Amino acid sequence: MDPARSHNPNSSYQNPQSAYRRHRDAGGRNHSENKRSRPNHHQYQSGPTPPQNPRSSQELSTRRELYERDFPVYKQPVEVGCFSLDSERRFFNDSRRMKYYVEPDRNPNFDLKDGYKDRYIRRDESEKEKLDHILRWILANKSKLSSKVTTASSCALDFDFVTWRGHLTKLLTTPYETREGWLLAVSRFRGTLYISEVETEAARREQESRTERHKEMMYWGYKFEQYTCADDVHSSPDPGGVVNTNEAFCTVVQTRLADHRLLFSGEVDCRDKDPNAPAPPACYVELKTSAEICTPKQRSNFHRFKLLKWWAQSFLPGVPRVVAGFKDEEGVVVTVDTFPISKISQLIKNEQNCWKPTVCMNFCCDFLSFVKQIATEDNPSVVYLFSWEPRRDVTFSIHRDSQYSFLPHWFVEEMTSSHDSHRQP
Ligand code: A3P
Ligand code: MG
Repeated sequence: MDPARSHNPNSSYQNPQSAYRRHRDAGGRNHSENKRSRPNHHQYQSGPTPPQNPRSSQELSTRRELYERDFPVYKQPVEVGCFSLDSERRFFNDSRRMKYYVEPDRNPNFDLKDGYKDRYIRRDESEKEKLDHILRWILANKSKLSSKVTTASSCALDFDFVTWRGHLTKLLTTPYETREGWLLAVSRFRGTLYISEVETEAARREQESRTERHKEMMYWGYKFEQYTCADDVHSSPDPGGVVNTNEAFCTVVQTRLADHRLLFSGEVDCRDKDPNAPAPPACYVELKTSAEICTPKQRSNFHRFKLLKWWAQSFLPGVPRVVAGFKDEEGVVVTVDTFPISKISQLIKNEQNCWKPTVCMNFCCDFLSFVKQIATEDNPSVVYLFSWEPRRDVTFSIHRDSQYSFLPHWFVEEMTSSHDSHRQP
């Protein structure tokens, strides 16, 4: 029996029986030893026997079978704030770019190609923003976040990890990923581990060699958002307007995965416009497009690959539903369907060799434990660079004052400054 299903991870975030324990290994910084030993995964299992201290390990396996155990505790994510980015990518500590979902016809015939040539402003992807927007949000909300006053002049966050939701999505899907590797830079600062993605060589090459067709298809997803979202509760979508991908509304949520206290942010497409809808993040809606499904093989691929990505992305922040526009080869949305996140594990249950939510969450959890064990030096200019390629183990290297440092001076200084008027006495 599949333990993931028995735990119904999508409707219940808490597994009260999980006696998950953390054991930090004080060693493990000499990565040049490059031992081939595997982490003792079975020692992290839930159950009445306390796990043993894991051996020091310099690599982390991504083999699926190592992560097939009980679903870990994942607390219901709570929204602690939000921010908006305007048409010029300027940060605002509010919800001004929130959009409202307007349910379309089931067969709407939306032409996603419309406006690509003349009403499209594309965000400059070469501008690497790293964690900057989240760090701005943290500074703007420092008083409600920092409870531990460590010295008379500074504060620490009550979180083990700060990152983007998208980075966590990549971790969740890693045991099933066969094509794209990743690089994640980690710095420990005042006890919190900040995780920021670094573009891989392969991703840079892929971006530079994108075909015109591919570039146009990337626009289609945003165009679908424009057809289904309004700027205000009482207005209607405006398909004649400009699609500007600089604009964003982001939620900031806190939660806990086993003993990892997480603060992360993710872009939210829109919310239910009913004023009686549940509070965020339960009122949020994720919009997606996908190729229309005409054959059993296409349905199987949709379950095995698309639904994995959709589930991982929305499960993390507690977004309860995905509204999908199925498009034909001409870029016309022919059908719209809603996928409740809590129903996705049932949808895939008849699929052979399919992905399992528990493997995704346990791998992410063990990766975060691995990071805690390795990234021990508390110094914002030291980066532990974690690297993964399909069919390989996760490895790391250490960099001081290098091109990889990503915590900006303005953040480090303000977090250490004695002139914080918001800090609690
Ligand atoms: P679809 O995924 O519906 O095609 P998101 O759904 O994550 O909010 O992303 C919105 C849209 O951005 C996507 O819509 C797609 O059009 C575009 N997009 C995002 N990431 C992409 C990627 N890695 N490759 C291609 N398109 C991407
Ligand atoms: Mg979307």
